[in-house]
Amino acid sequence: MISKLVALFLLGAAQGLIGWIMVKSGLNDDNLYVSHIRLAIHFISALVLIGFTLWFALSLLIDETHYIFNNSLKWLTAGIILILFAQLTYGAFMAGMKAATVAPTWPSINGDYFPESIWKQSFLYNSINIHFVHRMLAYIILILIGIWFVKASSIKDYPLLSKYRFLPVLLVAVQIVLGIFCLVTATMQVRNGFGVFEYLAQAHQLVAMFLLMSMLFMLFLFKGGSKV
Ligand code: HEM
Ligand code: HEM
Repeated sequence: MISKLVALFLLGAAQGLIGWIMVKSGLNDDNLYVSHIRLAIHFISALVLIGFTLWFALSLLIDETHYIFNNSLKWLTAGIILILFAQLTYGAFMAGMKAATVAPTWPSINGDYFPESIWKQSFLYNSINIHFVHRMLAYIILILIGIWFVKASSIKDYPLLSKYRFLPVLLVAVQIVLGIFCLVTATMQVRNGFGVFEYLAQAHQLVAMFLLMSMLFMLFLFKGGSKV
């Protein structure tokens, strides 16, 4: 218990440190904007912090009688969470690069499904390539969570799973719809203010966090899987 609390404190301190490094990087005369890589690191470490806090809370709230013994679903859940982290990183790249306005079209990316740049340019710094990865990963995650739901629906006798397995499916669907609307309203961006695009972008970021938390909750239930 104490070690978990210390870990939580250290994670919080590390988060503040990265935040300060971001602020400091903007204290110059040439470039006030935060680099998208630093923003992604700060965002991902905030998610690790929130995930750790959730896991800690769940371990206090849910006892062993609720654990589910199913190794294949446990690994599928863990795999989806890993891909989700990559997607959240690319979401931060989208926001940090202000990439939405570069290709505010859907389903194509400015008319292309496989833009030329994916063969020639960087996947860390080219906005179109960042669009490509963020969209592709979204569709992959949607399919995987669909498969996950079908598999999870075949498991009986676990009340918490039966009650909450709809959450990841609902959240991923809402998330994708929000992402698309966010994208196509990007041309309406308000400088130094809050308009439709800004509200949608906030909602898109918030639902992304809920989606991650819902999958972590499911992984917590499967933590007994390895005993079988
Ligand atoms: C427990 C502590 C903290 C948490 C959980 C936290 C979390 C976050 C989150 C979730 C974002 C939004 C990231 C995004 O849009 O991708 C953010 C942005 C930011 N944070 Fe923190 N933060 C913390 C501490 C700090 C501290 C101490 C500083 C600076 C001294 C800081 C500086 C910033 C800056 C500059 C941004 C926004 C940069 C931008 O959008 O241009 N943060 N933080
Ligand atoms: C599983 C699905 C998805 C997840 C988990 C996800 C996650 C995220 C996150 C966390 C951010 C914001 C990060 C930040 O502010 O630092 C973001 C930004 C963004 N995403 Fe997604 N996303 C998903 C699907 C999509 C889809 C399908 C689209 C559009 C086709 C989309 C378009 C955008 C856009 C335009 C931004 C930038 C918003 C801004 O500039 O603030 N996303 N995404």
